[in-house]
Amino acid sequence: MSLDFLKEYEDKINENIKGNLDEIRLSDKSDSVILEGMEYALLAGGKRIRPAFCIIGALIGGLKVEEVLNFASGIEFIHTYSLVHDDLPGMDDDELRRGKPTCHVKYGVGEAILIGDSLLTHGISLLLQPIDGLKIENQFKAVRFMMDSIGLLGMIGGQAADLKQEKKGPSNLETLEYIHKHKTSKLLEGSLISGAILADANDFVKSDLLNYSKGFGLAFQITDDILDLTSSVEELGKPIGSDLRNEKLTYPKIFGLTKARSMALDEIEKCKSNVKKYGEHGQQLIELADYLIERRK
Ligand code: IPE
Ligand code: IPE
Ligand code: MG
Ligand code: MG
Ligand code: MG
Repeated sequence: MSLDFLKEYEDKINENIKGNLDEIRLSDKSDSVILEGMEYALLAGGKRIRPAFCIIGALIGGLKVEEVLNFASGIEFIHTYSLVHDDLPGMDDDELRRGKPTCHVKYGVGEAILIGDSLLTHGISLLLQPIDGLKIENQFKAVRFMMDSIGLLGMIGGQAADLKQEKKGPSNLETLEYIHKHKTSKLLEGSLISGAILADANDFVKSDLLNYSKGFGLAFQITDDILDLTSSVEELGKPIGSDLRNEKLTYPKIFGLTKARSMALDEIEKCKSNVKKYGEHGQQLIELADYLIERRK
């Protein structure tokens, strides 16, 4: 699978992220390691799927890539904050992320908390950067959708349920679905839909994109659970067996690897049907969904 378009968006996002970090640097007189840590976490790699989702949502709605680059980078700042905090000793207590020591290992726990906080707040500020020619109420709605996607009704709610469920014994499919749909799927949904909202896409389009991203999000976390058991540290850039060590509730834990894989495949097939009608950019979403099952990182 070539995913050439992803490489193209990734390059643009990386350039935009670097430009925004440079701008923060010009004003930062704090003499702290926080900005260094933000840069360290952001530029360590990462597949950039969430900003790519935002770009594709915007393109489907008729905007140009350049118009949403700040917004899409803001989403990557927010995603990176979620990773920095997810790895903390009080959460998954992991020592490797994107192939490098995690932020708390490199900079200390207190600093890593602040690096995460700073990624989140600067991320929100990027979502609010003015976009020429765009109706301000669409940007307002898109930001609101993102905030709901990452807050207690979204990602934080999922992360809290994931923590609560650790080491709890009997498995419960309803709880497992709640965790995966919130801790992972909500941010992916927010990324694609906010792009479409910025572009003033109509309700039918937004509903198709939402249905696609719900299936994609669930399949994404099922495959993440599978990779925690089957990939290698070198390929994944994260520790293997983290979920076992933390006694996490996962799809392979309840269903075994083979069934978990076929459940991910089902979600992938179903979600693709929602975007077939969207031409070139719908095809990009289809390729991203197909990529999930073969990914090694
Ligand atoms: C990791 O997301 C966090 C999960 C929701 C599983 P990614 O697998 O997209 O991580 P990066 O951004 O490529 O590092
Ligand atoms: C975390 O899920 C989802 C987030 C909100 C960061 P995981 O804990 O499985 O993600 P990884 O495996 O550490 O990337
Ligand atoms: Mg976690
Ligand atoms: Mg984790
Ligand atoms: Mg994981």
